[in-house]
This record gives sequence, structure tokens and C-alpha cells, in this order.
Amino acid sequence: MQIRIRNFGPIKSFDLDLSKKFTVIFGKNNIGKSYSTSVTYLILKNLMKFGYEKLDANLTEFGESFRESFYATYEDIGNLTNRFSQKGMKLVLCTDALELTIESDGKKLLFHNVATAGNKLTGSPDISHIHYLPASRSGLYQALSAFSQIFAELSRSRGFLKKKVDIPSIPEPVSDYFLGLSAIRKRETEDDNEILRLVREMEKNILKGEVHFNEETKQMVYTPCHTDLSLDMSLTSSMVSELSPVVSYLKYIVASADGTSIIFIEEPEAHLHPETQVRLMEIFAELVRANVRIVMTSHSSYMFNKMNNLILDKKIDPETTGTVVFKHTDEGSVGTYVSTDELGADDENFLDVAEKLFNEKLELVEKLDTGERAE
Ligand SMILES: Nc1ncnc2c1ncn2[C@@H]1O[C@H](COP(=O)(O)OP(=O)(O)OP(=O)(O)O)[C@@H](O)[C@H]1O
Ligand SMILES: [Mg+2]
Repeated sequence: MQIRIRNFGPIKSFDLDLSKKFTVIFGKNNIGKSYSTSVTYLILKNLMKFGYEKLDANLTEFGESFRESFYATYEDIGNLTNRFSQKGMKLVLCTDALELTIESDGKKLLFHNVATAGNKLTGSPDISHIHYLPASRSGLYQALSAFSQIFAELSRSRGFLKKKVDIPSIPEPVSDYFLGLSAIRKRETEDDNEILRLVREMEKNILKGEVHFNEETKQMVYTPCHTDLSLDMSLTSSMVSELSPVVSYLKYIVASADGTSIIFIEEPEAHLHPETQVRLMEIFAELVRANVRIVMTSHSSYMFNKMNNLILDKKIDPETTGTVVFKHTDEGSVGTYVSTDELGADDENFLDVAEKLFNEKLELVEKLDTGERAE
């Protein structure tokens, strides 16, 4: 199954291969990584709502639901026309059995051409649950938690009810992320669950403490090892507040889910020391082996290098791993899969910067030497 993205915001073209279990997306800032992951999330989420097999029959309902998600996320469709090429957006969902095209005429979304080749849908991914962990997730969580508490408090006051309040729109991947965390229900999960084992490993070796969910306040709290503290996220380190949502999703949602989950995670390295980034990549590799699909964006050369070492160590399967690099062109960015084999993925993202820094250093040292000799 593939999602073909054309002229969508900053992107000229990108074909996201959803048959890969692990997808890592690199590229400079502002280049379309988040646009591509957020729109893929919205397509998949709505697809799962109506069922892949029944999409042909439910196309109208799918269209309505997707439109709602789309406008909540991107607001103005006119803004999405690629300003580099001036061409209108086109999104195509392709499986062996169907091809669904979502296009814009500049004003509205149009859906067409669901072709069914035979009765059995063979190309649909085996995915039952989908989650999106956006960038700046700790700040978003704290801001939205505070906002929802203020809102609950204000709603109780009679005066408030008489006034009109404009609530700013929140992109759907972000609101889904927050609602997912707020609606956590503690469920009984088997002790030998592999995902829970990985969560415990993360808590013990990375967070050095446990993340809990307070069902009363509907908030995450952190208990550092060997303490009786129950700290609000605003009182924890940036590493803890950044990773706690990841741990909570895994512990309370993914571990107890039936079927395969796919998690989109933006910049998991944010706020983490390189050592922690490397450990996190090890955990991601194990999660993928435990049948959790991951699509991540990243700017971390540490995570990239660790991914390659894990491929060399046969802990990440290059066959089911996709390494994408987005690059600028005159008509917008193009996302392409770089060669990824048993020796790892080609570095088409970090090498230039590393080389430039190294050469700059050589020049500066040389200058220093020449200066010293002249004195
Ligand atoms: N219609 C458009 N045409 C061209 N460029 C656009 C359009 N709409 C948005 N952009 C650009 O796309 C950017 C957003 O892209 P996106 O969020 O996907 O970047 P990213 O690759 O995730 O970057 P980062 O690494 O900083 O998160 C905007 O900041 C803007 O510069
Ligand atoms: Mg981004």
C-alpha cells in the first residue's frame, strides 16, 4: 500500500510505502516531513474508520469524514497549493485492489476513482490502531492540559456560559494526541507482554522512574525511582516530559491493543542527550520486532548512525525498513527512498554538514598555526 503525495504544501512529490514496518524520514527544516506524515495519518485514520474493504461502498462517508479532518488540520485549502510549482494538490491511496484519488480544485476536495480489482483486497496494510505523537509534544500536552482545566473551571461559572468563546482550532493529529492521553483507561494487560517489557526497560534505563496516569485528574505524573513523589509534567526534566507521552501511549494504549498499531512520531530525539537518543533507537528497533509499526521524522545523526549499526547487527531488517530523505527542487521538495541494505542506509542528509564542519575546523586550525608562526 502506498500514499502518493503530489504538490501538497511544500512537497512536489513523495510516495510513502506503507508496507515498510519502520520508516525514518530525514531532511532539512521546512521541507515537508510533517506535512507528509500528518496527511498520511489523516488518510489512514479515516480509512480505518470505514474499513479498507468497504471503501468503495462508503466513499461518500469517507469523503465527509476526511474533509472534516482535513479542514481542522490545514484550515484553508488554498494555502496548500504548492507555491513553488503553483500546481494543485493530489493525494492518491494505492493498494492492489483500489486507487483512491483526493484532489483539490483550489476551493474544495474531490474524491474519485476507487477501482476494485477482484473481490479480495490484498494490498491493505495489517493495521488496526493509529497514533500520532506530534513535535513539541511535551509543551502541547502541558498547554492543552492547563487549557482543558481552565475551560472546565470556566464552564462551571454561570457568567461564562452567557459569553461566546472562540476556541482556536487545533490540528487533528494534535487534538487526537491529547485526547488519546486524556482518555486513558487502565486495562489489565498480561505480564509477559513484550511491549510492557520494553516500557519497563525505558522507565528503568532511560526515565529512571515510572510514568503513571492519574484517572481522576486525567493527567500523567512521574515518580522518580526510589521516591514517593508524584510529579506533574511541568516539574519534570525535559527528557521526562518529552518521553512520558511516548511511554504512556505504549503502556496504556498500544500494549493492550488487539492487532497491529502504527505510531507516527515526530522528532523523537527532541531534548534528549545523544546517549538517550541512541537508547531510544534500540527501543524502537525492539518495538518494530514486537510488531509495532513506526513512522518517524528526525534530525538526529545519532539516531541515524545507531539505526545503521542495528541493521549491521541484524536487529533491524533492512528489507522492511524505509529510509527517506526529502530534498529541495525548484518545484518543491521531493521525498525519495535511499538505498538501505544489510550495511545500512546511505547518508544523504548529514554528511555534507559534517564535512563542512570538519573542513572549516581544518582551515581555522591552519589559520591559527600560520598566525602563531608569524608572531
Ligand atoms: N503551499 C505551500 N507552498 C510552498 N511551501 C509551503 C506551502 N505551505 C507551507 N509551506 C512551507 O512548508 C513548511 C512546513 O513544512 P513541514 O512542517 O512539513 O516542515 P518539516 O520538514 O516538518 O520541517 P521541520 O524539520 O522544521 O519540522 C512551512 O513552514 C512553509 O515554509
Ligand atoms: Mg516537522
